[in-house]
Amino acid sequence: MMSLAPGATLGVVGGGQLGRYFVVKARQLGYEVWVLDPDEKAPAMQLASVALVANYDDAKALSQLGEACDAVTIEFENVPAESLQLLQSMSQLAPGPASVELAQDRLLEKQKAMSSGLLPVPHASIADLEDIANLDSEFTFPAILKTSRLGYDGKGQRACNTRDELEQAFNECGAVSCVLEQRIELAAEISVVLARSFDGEIAVFPVAQNVHREGVLFTSVVPSMQPAAITAMAAEQAESLAHAIEHVGVLAVEFFIGVDGTLYFNEMAPRPHNSGHYTLDATLCSQFEQQIRVMCGLALGATDLLSPVAMVNLLGDLWDKKSPGLDRLFGSSGCHLHLYGKMAPRPGRKMGHVTCLASDNTTALDQVNQQFAAISGS
Ligand SMILES: Nc1ncnc2c1ncn2[C@@H]1O[C@H](COP(=O)(O)OP(=O)(O)OP(=O)(O)O)[C@@H](O)[C@H]1O
Ligand SMILES: [Mg+2]
Repeated sequence: MMSLAPGATLGVVGGGQLGRYFVVKARQLGYEVWVLDPDEKAPAMQLASVALVANYDDAKALSQLGEACDAVTIEFENVPAESLQLLQSMSQLAPGPASVELAQDRLLEKQKAMSSGLLPVPHASIADLEDIANLDSEFTFPAILKTSRLGYDGKGQRACNTRDELEQAFNECGAVSCVLEQRIELAAEISVVLARSFDGEIAVFPVAQNVHREGVLFTSVVPSMQPAAITAMAAEQAESLAHAIEHVGVLAVEFFIGVDGTLYFNEMAPRPHNSGHYTLDATLCSQFEQQIRVMCGLALGATDLLSPVAMVNLLGDLWDKKSPGLDRLFGSSGCHLHLYGKMAPRPGRKMGHVTCLASDNTTALDQVNQQFAAISGS
């Protein structure tokens, strides 16, 4: 592993909002940044030192990126394995192909979590109709059928209450390889964002408590409102998983807390995460700076929380009929508006977020909810 000082050139595959913050932070620190994305207007492409318009499996463009950059990272997990292997042969890549490949497949990810001492929700692999016929009689509905690959923001998920509905759901999703999960009655959802260096050193950010609406993250609040014993356990488990998969870079691990207090592993993301956006405004080092430090072989940053904070996502739905009342935000101190530079505000599309810093977490959460109501005019 080489230590790369500012002045070096970094690359990122994927030009969405996560890539955009990576670019902003890297350029602030004095690095040049190349971004590869098929869309020339993608959020990170707008701010790149060099924007490579190409598909994620374009060997020629990937070689150009690997050639030009001293270190390369990814913005999302669905970069083809061969592309990662090519980049790793040419540049200092973080994360490496192995942990990214695991995160591309819900079933593999659950198996790895289990063997690392984490507890996924009760689930079954559904690869064909026979798996449905042979479903363990102990499996209890209601359940959620999730495609093993390529799901995000609740996409590729179907609720099913009976075996018949399961069969229908399986056919509807194209009879591709799926995971059937028991629907857990949730007391809360939390996530752990951490960074692991090439040397295996880990820095954990404060645990966030998250609320999802229709499968999409709505709010996060930090510190979480959950007992310290359970957030500490989640942090420990996330660390164990990071070590077990030898992840290098930022890793996010999502957990469910059942109504009986059980801590379940939900899923992981081998990259900075939406529930870690609060680190942009409220921790000493942000998740994006941490990614840069790791890939450049620099010391990890401090993850101390500077203030209780809450975040609310702004989805394209807010732009549905008229522009949202964003100007209303500027009346309150302690609120930060973030917009990602996306041109088309489609429903469900993440357009930006707002964070509010306050003296305690309850106040911060109340404030983001109030700001959201004011912006949406509801
Ligand atoms: N087994 C389950 N029991 C109860 N709720 C669930 C279950 N699975 C998913 N959910 C709810 O749906 C949300 C989205 O699920 P999941 O994390 O699997 O989605 P995703 O499509 O991978 O989304 P993303 O990658 O954006 O986090 C969860 O955060 C939770 O609120
Ligand atoms: Mg999720």
